Amino acid sequence: MSNNQLTVVDREGATHDVEWEPDQTMMEALRDNDLPVLASCGGTASCATCHVFLDEKVFGTLGERSEDELELLVEAEGYRECGSRLSCQVGFNPDLDGVTVTLAPEE
Ligand code: FES
Repeated sequence: MSNNQLTVVDREGATHDVEWEPDQTMMEALRDNDLPVLASCGGTASCATCHVFLDEKVFGTLGERSEDELELLVEAEGYRECGSRLSCQVGFNPDLDGVTVTLAPEE
């Protein structure tokens, strides 16, 4: 599987091209490319510092969020019913090549 390319919009509105490797979650791709994603729980859906927004169309192509993920997200800054994801819970998916990911405000 080849890498995905992501366009990441940071909290200042600047864009970054990010390579997402097939063995990474989306959070790992962001973190390993030096974006300010704290990921303090290490990817276990318990900190919400990896919160991102996806556009509604892309969001709609992914499966349902787990109960744990949703529970954290609804309490998170700027939560969007249609768009918010914990990036550690988004596994590599070739369909996500070329999408734009926006970092949510810091908690
Ligand atoms: S890294 Fe903590 S919830 Fe995703």
